[in-house]
Formats: sequence, structure tokens, C-alpha cells
Amino acid sequence: MLVELKVNGFPYRREVAPDTTLLTYLREVLELTGTKWGCLTGDCGACTVLVDGEPVVSCLQLACQVSGHEVTTVEGLDTAGELNDLQAHFVSNGASQCGFCTPGMLMSAEALLRNNPDPSEAEVREALSGNLCRCTGYNKIVDAVLETAKARAMAVSAVPDLSGSSSSVGS
Ligand code: FES
Ligand code: FES
Repeated sequence: MLVELKVNGFPYRREVAPDTTLLTYLREVLELTGTKWGCLTGDCGACTVLVDGEPVVSCLQLACQVSGHEVTTVEGLDTAGELNDLQAHFVSNGASQCGFCTPGMLMSAEALLRNNPDPSEAEVREALSGNLCRCTGYNKIVDAVLETAKARAMAVSAVPDLSGSSSSVGS
């Protein structure tokens, strides 16, 4: 059956078997291998991607069920080949060791920060509770997400207000 997806901003149309999972579609049909095969039972979160901005474990999602929707994978986070700020904070905090969980962690964290730009530590831990890591002990991952939230808030507050609401332009 024909599955049409916009992935990381690019449109794709591919004929696949009806039981093709979104994970298989991404990794084997589109060759976007950043999203990881893990448990394939929905328990580890390694395969997490965003569908219309919401985190989804792609091993349990049929590709045909999301046809017509927008998918973001870890390959869609960077900008012009540069790590985005969340990825950079993972690096600077040592939040990635073997790296196997990292794509899924990044996608769950990015979804959280887009929906809740100022999360508490408890909210970060809750948002990442479906993503398992065998290496880091989680604290460095949580620190990376909280630092990203703080940096994004500072960047927003540093942008000058050009709305004219408090200026004398035109008066
Ligand atoms: S591979 Fe999908 S949740 Fe583990
Ligand atoms: S960094 Fe190895 S599983 Fe998380």
C-alpha cells in the first residue's frame, strides 16, 4: 500500500506491505538509520520519533496509520549539519555514552521542551520515563535537558522587543 509521509520536512511516497512499521519504513525504506531498533515491544523508547510533534514509539506504529502526517527523526534536529542546542548539551554533559538510547531520548526531550519550555526536573524525568538508558544513570541526561530549557529561555529574553508597543515610533 502507498504510504505518504513528510519526514524532516521532505515528502516521501513509498509502496510498502500493510504490516510495515513506521520504524521499518524509516530505517529500511528511507534509510534514515538514526532511529534505533531496540526491544520492538514498546518498552525501551530507542525508536522514538515525533509524529505531528508528539513522541511515538515507531516500532509499535504501522506506517500506514500515519500516512499523510509529519514525522521528525533525530536526523531532523540538526540545522545545516550543526548539532542543535539540545544535542550540544547532551555532548557537554556527557549525557550520551554508548549512544544507543540517545536518538530516542533526544526526541522525547525535544517534544517536552516544545510543549513545556520551562519543565521542572520531575517533569523532565516523567517525559523521559519511557526511554531506557543502560549507561548514564539518567542524571546527566536530565541535566542536559534542563540546561537546554534554561538556555532557550535566556535566548528568548535576550531578543529585543520590536513590536513597537513601548516605543515612540509613529507618535
Ligand atoms: S524499539 Fe521501540 S520501544 Fe523499544
Ligand atoms: S548511553 Fe548507552 S544506553 Fe543510554
